[in-house]
Amino acid sequence: MKEEEISYYEKKVSENPINLDDWKAGVHNKTLKIAIIGIGRIGLPTSLMIAKAGYITFGIDIKQDYVEKINQGGGDPPIKFILDEPNLPEILKEVISNGKFSASTDFVKYISLANIIIICVPTPITSQKVPDYSKINEVIKNIGSLKELIKDKIVIIESTVSPLYVKNIGIPLLEKISGLEINKDFWIASCPERADPGNIIKNLKSIPRIVGACNENASKIVASFYKTVFDVNIIQVSNPRTANSVKLIENIFRVVNIAFSNEIAQLSRLLDIDYMEVLKGAKSKYNFLPHYPGPGVGGPCLPANPYFLITDGYLVSFTPNLVRLATEINQRQPAHITELIFEGLNKIKLPISETPIAVLGISYKPDVKDTQMSSVFPILNDLRQYGASITLYDPYFANEEEQGLKIELNYKFIKNNYPIILVHTGHNEFRSQEFMDFLKECKNLKMIIDCQNIYEKEDLPKGIYYIGVGRPLKYLE
Ligand SMILES: NC(=O)c1ccc[n+]([C@@H]2O[C@H](COP(=O)([O-])OP(=O)(O)OC[C@H]3O[C@@H](n4cnc5c(N)ncnc54)[C@H](O)[C@@H]3O)[C@@H](O)[C@H]2O)c1
Repeated sequence: MKEEEISYYEKKVSENPINLDDWKAGVHNKTLKIAIIGIGRIGLPTSLMIAKAGYITFGIDIKQDYVEKINQGGGDPPIKFILDEPNLPEILKEVISNGKFSASTDFVKYISLANIIIICVPTPITSQKVPDYSKINEVIKNIGSLKELIKDKIVIIESTVSPLYVKNIGIPLLEKISGLEINKDFWIASCPERADPGNIIKNLKSIPRIVGACNENASKIVASFYKTVFDVNIIQVSNPRTANSVKLIENIFRVVNIAFSNEIAQLSRLLDIDYMEVLKGAKSKYNFLPHYPGPGVGGPCLPANPYFLITDGYLVSFTPNLVRLATEINQRQPAHITELIFEGLNKIKLPISETPIAVLGISYKPDVKDTQMSSVFPILNDLRQYGASITLYDPYFANEEEQGLKIELNYKFIKNNYPIILVHTGHNEFRSQEFMDFLKECKNLKMIIDCQNIYEKEDLPKGIYYIGVGRPLKYLE
């Protein structure tokens, strides 16, 4: 730890050290009460696991109807993401019926009752590509406004934030509004969430937690609390900014490697090389870690996380150029998909305005009901600007509207009229034998564009063109 860091994090501790034994007993006996603010995709499963471990847990959110649905076990029809998280519905019912978990919009009551407050609200990026901390700052102000009522509590930030957020914004804001002092009256830790939608319960039970707190004792308490909940390895790091760096770096590592693949995939096509074949060869070497090309990165994390690091870089006059460039390469990928469509249209000699296109899969990744920052939207915008007529289907949104778009009930509409199928998301349904058999019945089908390279050419119907990302256009004979 650097000199100024030691003074910041440790000096005040000696004035009024946290009572380690009391907290340890609270963890050991599960008598601590826990409040989670923001019980969405991440906060809800986290709350349920805490309740399942035996702690009285309060889930706090701002949406009244949503909170009611959760208290009814998910509601009918169930909340959007509940069904694509295996085990979530069962755990929700269990912890509601045994009284360990309840959801509420009553912020003041439950924050006052809690010993540990976990913040799990969204931290997206703005249109200016900087972190949007409006929601987390609002939550911190609300906590701070409770003043003496938040004395002796530990606040844990699980939301994704930049390395410097806790030190530069979170702590000063909470101290200012509450009139209380960090490491004397309350404690702060970061434990950034590392789970993946679609696997959240499984990830929570297997991925180690990274804990970085405002002092060593707080770190020990937070670490032992998480250990009792998830029974995973707990890695304690020096401070919140190191913990938040871990979260960002692991995602940015993927962003950079995906960009590398997207770039080399484009070059490979031009050289008449199938990049998937190249990857198959390269990954046979022990130190090659394959990342796959695709239509662009989506979801709440990968497209946004680089900007958290880039923004902190500004503060110290440093631009992480590789990260910036990788992000730009991935952002250009939807436009590359449009180029592939035009390449195919030229080949089959059909004008885009007279060629209905079936787009399959709108989620940002396979087998989740989630379209946050999905690359399908820029692709659709592009195609519509060229006058394309598009019909959409996604099994996770069958017969629903999503972001103002109508989604068909099933893929059967393709059968007679659609010369082009664009498979945007590699959902399992589009890999099934039933779907492969169906393709053979599509009499007018002339071309498949496979944005996630889920098909082997041999498995597709003969007499059509196939284009993958990084795979040269091929007529299937
Ligand atoms: N979804 C993921 O894959 C994922 C993975 C890792 C980390 N994260 C991070 O976790 C955090 C939460 O993301 P999420 O995907 O769960 O978001 P989400 O949108 O699914 O859920 C957030 C919840 O917070 C509630 N909320 C918003 N403002 C509030 C306020 N002032 N008080 C109380 N509740 C409020 C919303 O109503 C919503 O229910 C973000 O920082 C995100 O970057 C997300």
